[in-house]
Amino acid sequence: MIKTLGQLDQEQRKSRGKELNTLRDQINQAIEKQRESLEKIELERQIASETIDISLAPRSRQLGTIHPLSQAMYEIISIFSKMGFKLAEGPDIEDDYHNFTALNIPAEHPARQEQDTFYFAKQVDGNQLLLRTHTSPVQIRTMSKTPPPIRIIVPGRTYRSDFDATHTPNFHQIEGLLIDKGIHFGHLKDCLSNFCREFFEVDNLPVRFRPAYFPFTEPSAEMEIGCSRSGNELKIGAGDEWLEVLGCGMVHPNVLKNCNIDPSKHQGLAFGIGIERMAILKYGIPDLRSFYESDLRWLHHYGFSTFEALSGDPVL
Ligand code: PHE
Repeated sequence: MIKTLGQLDQEQRKSRGKELNTLRDQINQAIEKQRESLEKIELERQIASETIDISLAPRSRQLGTIHPLSQAMYEIISIFSKMGFKLAEGPDIEDDYHNFTALNIPAEHPARQEQDTFYFAKQVDGNQLLLRTHTSPVQIRTMSKTPPPIRIIVPGRTYRSDFDATHTPNFHQIEGLLIDKGIHFGHLKDCLSNFCREFFEVDNLPVRFRPAYFPFTEPSAEMEIGCSRSGNELKIGAGDEWLEVLGCGMVHPNVLKNCNIDPSKHQGLAFGIGIERMAILKYGIPDLRSFYESDLRWLHHYGFSTFEALSGDPVL
């Protein structure tokens, strides 16, 4: 009918057009109304006829897990934070000064040799950036900008150009630094013994400190814990064998001086813990390289439930 409007004269077309438009709207509304009521009837029919069986067992869904390295890191941070250590961080890309020079590492020290880390191309001013070989540069960064007392722990990635069953080019450390008046080796021994006893959950864990050498600490020591090995099994806390777990020492006076701290007024202790090593020992993980392979079966086997890992953790 609308198509025939063109044949009418102008006056008729106007009134007829109006009528037809109104009619078209009424028809559309009627269709819409009918559709709604049909849909409603269909829905009611469905509700009346269908049931959902809620007694079926749910399909299990795989949840993600906390990586054992993150878990070990949270546990270590959490123990030191209870002793009053605060979290600090520093850059992965370091300069020669913070990674070596300020830490009393002389130019000819083997740690500086090119094969030991990854160097960037030399800059025009002769400076050469590198991937930090340890978390110790954060000691320098913190002492240079904060006056003592200082009590920090520094988790982070570290790099060395090594790759075999016990070394990976990227690994993780937690640095500890405490600077105050009257700090001595007894504080270091007590702090680290308590840490290891809590981390390995062995109250009477035998520990010993073996003399060692680090350019930035004097005296320096490697801390060892008592263990026993039979075949492939390692038992921590019993037996008459020793296992090295971390490096530590009293902050070298030269390092303090490099950060404008007077060694006759303030002394300090420092330690560096390899996170992979701690995780391997505590959770019984056989191969270091598996940490980085992202094999889902491995992650589900060694990973930790999110709820377990995060509940009650003071640092998160
Ligand atoms: N930075 C040392 C390393 O990576 C560990 C360490 C830290 C030793 C602090 C003593 C004191 O081997």
